[in-house]
Amino acid sequence: LFAGETEFLKGVVAMDGLPPADRLEVCFAGRSNVGKSSLINALTGRKALARASNTPGRTQEINFFTLGDSHYLVDLPGYGYAEAPLPVVQKWQRLLKAYLSGRQTLRRAFVLIDARHGVKAVDEEILTLLDQSAVTFQAVLTKADKVKPKDLENVLNQVRGALSKHPASFPEIVVTSSEKGDGIETLRAIIATLE
Ligand code: GTP
Ligand code: MG
Repeated sequence: LFAGETEFLKGVVAMDGLPPADRLEVCFAGRSNVGKSSLINALTGRKALARASNTPGRTQEINFFTLGDSHYLVDLPGYGYAEAPLPVVQKWQRLLKAYLSGRQTLRRAFVLIDARHGVKAVDEEILTLLDQSAVTFQAVLTKADKVKPKDLENVLNQVRGALSKHPASFPEIVVTSSEKGDGIETLRAIIATLE
């Protein structure tokens, strides 16, 4: 699947801009700066496909990427960026909610969690929204290269505890580093086996 062509299709700011739901879809959610765009770049092997930046909140649209002709990869707007103006935040939240609850072909949401921080209060909102939308979600720890193995164990336990409260969660946690490549093959295999 990942050997095929990957292209940026479009950035969507409203529900009527969504591409036709004619193929399998997975989305990537997470706090601003958690590493969503970097992960999509690592998965697809395209360094600058999803713009990764140091400026939090940069990805303000739902960005669709085609993966071969059978899948979409979807980069969701980062949440929890306090400096974004309230009306902007509210618009994202409405769009996110509509997308998550209305997208028939969405097979799984990957919720990215910084391996240094674990699940924070701001993440709980999206986990609850995913429960309510009945979208199966899987936690992906990012930036694993930045934590020591011992600390990683503690964070994994914290994340497991947080997930156990969410019925839509998938139990396996994927530990990744977009920088070093850890977990990228595992995540590709997970996406490739979704039906
Ligand atoms: P928004 O689009 O603003 O929501 O951010 P994002 O979640 O797309 O994060 P992005 O991929 O832009 O990464 C944010 C910062 O984290 C960048 O400086 C990346 O280089 C860095 N980063 C992402 N993944 C990793 C990783 O695996 N390891 C390390 N060390 N840094 C990473
Ligand atoms: Mg981004």
